[in-house]
Amino acid sequence: MYSCRVCNGPVREVIDLGRQPSANRFVLPDEVEGELFLRLAVGMCDDCTMVQLLEDMPQEVRYHDTYRYHASGSASHRKHFEQVARRFLEGELAKDDPFIVEIGCNDGVMLETIAQAGVRHLGVDPAKDVAALAAAKGVRVRTTFFDEPAAVEIRAEHGPADVIFGANTICHVSDQEALLRGVDALLSDDGIYAFEEPYLDTVVGRMAFDQVYDEHIYYFTARSVRAMAERFGFELVDVEELALHGGEVRYVLARPGRRQPTRAVAEMLARESALGLAEPARFERWAADVARVRTDLVELLGDIRAQGKTVVGYGSPAKTSTVTNYCGIGTELLPFVVDSTPAKQGRLVPGSHIPVRSPEAFTEAQPDYAVLFAWNHTEEIMAKEKEFRDRGGRWILYVPEVRVL
Ligand code: TYD
Ligand code: ZN
Repeated sequence: MYSCRVCNGPVREVIDLGRQPSANRFVLPDEVEGELFLRLAVGMCDDCTMVQLLEDMPQEVRYHDTYRYHASGSASHRKHFEQVARRFLEGELAKDDPFIVEIGCNDGVMLETIAQAGVRHLGVDPAKDVAALAAAKGVRVRTTFFDEPAAVEIRAEHGPADVIFGANTICHVSDQEALLRGVDALLSDDGIYAFEEPYLDTVVGRMAFDQVYDEHIYYFTARSVRAMAERFGFELVDVEELALHGGEVRYVLARPGRRQPTRAVAEMLARESALGLAEPARFERWAADVARVRTDLVELLGDIRAQGKTVVGYGSPAKTSTVTNYCGIGTELLPFVVDSTPAKQGRLVPGSHIPVRSPEAFTEAQPDYAVLFAWNHTEEIMAKEKEFRDRGGRWILYVPEVRVL
């Protein structure tokens, strides 16, 4: 039995996606020897209901100097984070000399707007190359992990933070207690700690099982976040559903008694229990549905090959690694994938070793089919690749089930 990272309770396995590498660690052809794998399996804590990975990759493997995920890679993400920043500027930061800290600022996609408004801010990110991209946008960055010692130093230098923010970062942190001790050390008495992360109902209810990968240690719900907040001296005061990454939730924590929890919190808790999001039977159904996607996708790719037609992958987010490794899809079924991120091109998808090429290769190859791995950007990509459809190309989607468009 595994024990819960948050409360030490017993964690029951709900799905096993097999041996998987670190999903954003795109390798060069001569680096494949040294690849590290883990058993990518998810479980739920019997006591606090936190859904989490059973095993985790060493931190040094997940984050290194050249982290190849750039949050500014899509127009919808840029727009979302500009709105997040505007909302802070008009809300929590509309006061005398405010200060905001972002944990995992990546390439500065959110803080850029804050910096342009001339508001005091600090991005904290351990990855040197993304931090350099942020700095080039005029964003102040500290290249380090966010922990209590870092938080104490930041407060000594800049004073307390009115807002501490994280997006697609907080679920990556194994030791949430240490993280919340850092938040406690840095947050002002009335400040908020807001984070936007993949939502368990998206992963299970909407079948986005490809959100499961080594960096996503936790799959939060309002219920599990509330339990965690209370355990470590905070209160869950607001939640909000977001469209990003197929469906995320923004959780807002404050010091206990400082803010009246919104109705949205009670509503989300009620909906989660109606959905059975803490019930083993729900996960059993999910695991069976996920296995069905694997069978159908492998069969479809095999049929396409048998018919002498061509198929490539579109987008190489971390999801591509989860899906190809779980399904056992290699270059024999999918000769290459294309991705607009220059840092991924010329490398191989971790584990399945499918080459990543630039989107021009897609236009040149004129494939008959394309598996849309970056399905959370369907609109943007289909608009961009209209020509593919116009000349008879067909998109393959596999969430929530395998289908050809
Ligand atoms: P993202 O949605 O940020 O996913 P994840 O967090 O799962 O890694 O990644 C989208 C990927 O798709 C990213 O590698 C860039 C790529 N992409 C394209 O290649 N073309 C596009 O038009 C868009 C929008 C994204
Ligand atoms: Zn627990």
